[in-house]
Amino acid sequence: MTNDVSDWWRTAIIDMEPGRIALRGQPVEDLIGQISFAEMIWLMLRGERPDPRAAKLLEATLVAAVDHGPQAPSIATARMAVTCGVALNGAMASAVNMLDDVHGGAGEQAVELYHQIDAAGGPDAAPEQVDQWRRDHGRYVPGFGHRFHPVDPRAPALMTLVKAAADKGVVTGRFRQIALAVEQHLAKTASKPVPMNIDGATAVIHAELGFPAPLARGLFVLSRSVGILAHAWEQTEQGGRNKGPTPPKYRWTYDGQT
Ligand SMILES: CC(C)(COP(=O)(O)OP(=O)(O)OC[C@H]1O[C@@H](n2cnc3c(N)ncnc32)[C@H](O)[C@@H]1OP(=O)(O)O)[C@@H](O)C(=O)NCCC(=O)NCCS
Repeated sequence: MTNDVSDWWRTAIIDMEPGRIALRGQPVEDLIGQISFAEMIWLMLRGERPDPRAAKLLEATLVAAVDHGPQAPSIATARMAVTCGVALNGAMASAVNMLDDVHGGAGEQAVELYHQIDAAGGPDAAPEQVDQWRRDHGRYVPGFGHRFHPVDPRAPALMTLVKAAADKGVVTGRFRQIALAVEQHLAKTASKPVPMNIDGATAVIHAELGFPAPLARGLFVLSRSVGILAHAWEQTEQGGRNKGPTPPKYRWTYDGQT
């Protein structure tokens, strides 16, 4: 029999009664001081405690993506919002809203691409699947290339950790092989070098750990929120009022009627 009041929200995440809080069936006091924040994220999202070595890999991605400076639209938004008098919560919400398909979404798309290649047979299917992806979605392959860094230093650091984890049997390493095959194909076919970037490497880890593609975006948002908070707080302490995206002496290009 259903209870129309208690069944209004159904959840397997948390159970509570006065004096008791249990998350995924585990009393919160058994978790506090016992598990890392990355393990807690895993437990909340997947309902089980991870192998700590797998959680370390997840944690590495969370560390890697925290910040990419005030030219990143999300970070700039946080700082501009603060100078408009928006409090930290509002500044963070404004900034997180910038993280969508184009800024912050490449990780999710890269996980999808890796899964597509995996379903088509693995690394050997990469060239054909990448070409198909470009026909379907446009010339930019998610997770590769960078406007600022010739080599994104975060990608090789993460890939080294995946290799070590695969060597120890923590993950299979099959998505690492797929991503390397994509990189090799792009090296042969793109008009300029487009090595793997942080989103491509993070997507390898998310796929290796079994996170579904949409969660890749959510995990990126969790990580970038740290940088967003740091910049919002720094701007709060610096002060400044009503700052736009450029110093006021620089004008935009007007190309309308004169
Ligand atoms: C990040 C990005 C916008 C940087 O692009 P850029 O270095 O300014 O490159 P350009 O737009 O000037 O393109 C230059 C050439 O490199 C190619 N190229 C760049 N990134 C590519 C990619 N990811 N896949 C395939 N080709 C790519 C372009 O097709 C273009 O080739 P063409 O001259 O034959 O048309 C681009 O690499 C991209 O969109 N990557 C995918 C999205 C992504 O991973 N974003 C997260 C970045 S951390």
